[in-house]
Formats: sequence, structure tokens, C-alpha cells
Amino acid sequence: MDILITGGTGFIGADVVRILLEKGEKRPVVFDINPSTKRLDDVADQIEIVRGDLGNFSHVLSIVKQTKPRVIYHLGGMLSVPSDADPAAALRANALGTYHVLEASRLFNVSQVIFSSTLATYGLGIRDDIISDFTLQRPQLFYGATKVFCEHMGLFYKRKFGLDFRSIRYPSIVGPGVKTPGVVQFTSWVIEECAKGNPFTFNVKPETRAPVMYFKDSSRAMVKLGEAAPDNIKMVNYVVAGARPIASAGELADIVRAKIPAAQINFEPDMELQAILDKLLLPIDDSCARDEWGWNPEYDQERIVEDFLQELKQNPQRYN
Ligand SMILES: NC(=O)c1ccc[n+]([C@@H]2O[C@H](COP(=O)([O-])OP(=O)(O)OC[C@H]3O[C@@H](n4cnc5c(N)ncnc54)[C@H](O)[C@@H]3O)[C@@H](O)[C@H]2O)c1
Repeated sequence: MDILITGGTGFIGADVVRILLEKGEKRPVVFDINPSTKRLDDVADQIEIVRGDLGNFSHVLSIVKQTKPRVIYHLGGMLSVPSDADPAAALRANALGTYHVLEASRLFNVSQVIFSSTLATYGLGIRDDIISDFTLQRPQLFYGATKVFCEHMGLFYKRKFGLDFRSIRYPSIVGPGVKTPGVVQFTSWVIEECAKGNPFTFNVKPETRAPVMYFKDSSRAMVKLGEAAPDNIKMVNYVVAGARPIASAGELADIVRAKIPAAQINFEPDMELQAILDKLLLPIDDSCARDEWGWNPEYDQERIVEDFLQELKQNPQRYN
């Protein structure tokens, strides 16, 4: 038991578990407040699953003391919409939860913590029409504020205690079976709903371009970042891009219609949401991730839709 994955039964976490098993990792430990083996149906007997709350220091201390992991992939936490709906819960799960992971790592000599941050750490005051690792992080969402704080706690633990902390700021992650609401989940839901024969209404304008990454790229990025030689890690917290070029909602609708001719897709923009997204949805310059640890996504928008539909067909039990 060398590896602990918080949030390891969630959307991205489960795929990180899958990659680690493929790489030969023996019995990774998964820690989650709401563990479900649905996404890990075929490998459930190869992992240890522990129910616990990141916001409860005793839970985090116990699991880290018990497993003494070398690496923690820290993906547990609340996403954007639930965080903004319940800031107190997000403060506990995201900010305090990350503090607990870092402090337990210090106490029990964990070497490395890889953390999942977000593009929502950016927001106001972006001067250029592109987001890079040098862009001011001034989030509009409470969720983004908790994640900026986590990134800086990680930098503090790295500087003060020598913890090998690294993080990725993900764009919107696309994949089947996404249930947790997020501000740009339309990037997944349009594909899934149309595949199920349901009509889909975008809550943004057709010209909205949300940077996306396929879930299989997001898990690969986490593991790849963890494997990079320490000397290469200069930026520490990295913005990463996925599919290029970034498709607009209208172009995504066209790709879906081309694969599912019966798809019924409409647009009814929510102007309050649109105003927030217009400030946030910019192209990404991820040259630090590319140069320092060789980041290179495999899925463009066309391939995302293809693989997504194939996943739904091959493994429907994982995503219902
Ligand atoms: N999905 C995206 O588009 C996206 C984008 C940017 C960043 N992220 C980040 O990636 C990480 C994983 O996201 P995901 O999409 O897999 O979401 P998810 O909701 O599928 O997974 C998160 C997991 O964390 C668990 N969790 C929540 N609160 C917890 C707590 N207090 N204690 C223990 N476990 C808890 C949930 O049960 C869930 O299994 C999150 O930290 C998220 O902020 C996701």
C-alpha cells in the first residue's frame, strides 16, 4: 500500500486508480466520503476502499497513519456549483480537508502530494486574452477561492517542510457519468443526454468556448506530473490545456449531431452564468507543463465525443 487517493471513487479519481493499477501499483488505498465501486467495477477487488471525511482530521490522520503512503493523489472535495451553494461545507471539505492532508503528510513522512486545482482559480482582472501560469489568480467563485488557498498551502508545506507538493489546474473535464454539477458540465451532458435519446438545452450561448480535457487525459496528467523528476518541477502549480482547438458550444453541438443524427439540441443562455463564464473562458497557455514535465493531451474534441460514446456503449453499468 504505497499510494492513497482521496476522492478516488469519483470521476477523475477512479481513472487515476485505474492507471495506477495498469502501471502495476499493488492495492492502492482509496479514501472517499461517499465511496462507490461503480466506476471501478472490474478492479474493485484490487483496491482498498475506506470511507472518511477530509474535513475530519481524525479520519485523515487515521488513514495516513494506517497506510503510510509514499504518494497521495488528493482529488477529494466539492466542485464549483455545490461549493458556491454551501460555502461553509466547501471551506471544510476543500480548504480544511487539504490542510488535513498536508499536515498528516508532514506528520507521517509522506513524500509527495499531487493536488487537483482548477481553472476557476482565475476570474477577475485577467489582462491578456489567454490564461497562463503567470496570470493573476483572482477567482469569482468561492470554489476557486478555496483552491487558490490550497495551492498556496501546498507551496508553504513544500518550502517549510520539504514536502514534494505539485498541482494541476484543470479546465472542465469531460466524460461519461458526470453527476456533480459544475458551471460548464454542459460539455459532458450534451453528449450523454443525446446518446440516451434525451433532448439537451445548453444554458450558454452557442459561441461560448469552454476549454475542456477528456477524463482519460486528466488522470494521465496527474500521474505524469507525479512521475516527473523533482529537478524539472519549477512552477509547482500548473495550468493544463486539453483539447485544441477549443470548440464552441455550437461546434460541439454540430459534432454531436454528426454522430447522433436524431440529437435534439437547443440553446437557452443563462445571462448571469454567461457573464461569469465570459471572463473565465479563455484559451490556455500551458507551456510550463509541456516544458517541465512533458504534458501533451491525447484527445481533441472529435476524439472525445467518439471515445465518450464508445465508453457509454461498452461500460454502461459504470455511468448510469
Ligand atoms: N470535473 C472537473 O471538471 C474538474 C475541473 C477542475 C478541477 N477538478 C477537481 O478535481 C477533483 C476531482 O473532481 P471530480 O470531477 O472527480 O469530482 P467528483 O465529485 O466526481 O469526485 C470528488 C470525490 O470527492 C469525494 N468527496 C467530496 N467531499 C469529500 C470529503 N469531505 N471527504 C472525502 N471525500 C470527499 C466525493 O465523494 C467524490 O467521490 C476535485 O478536487 C475537483 O475540484 C475537477
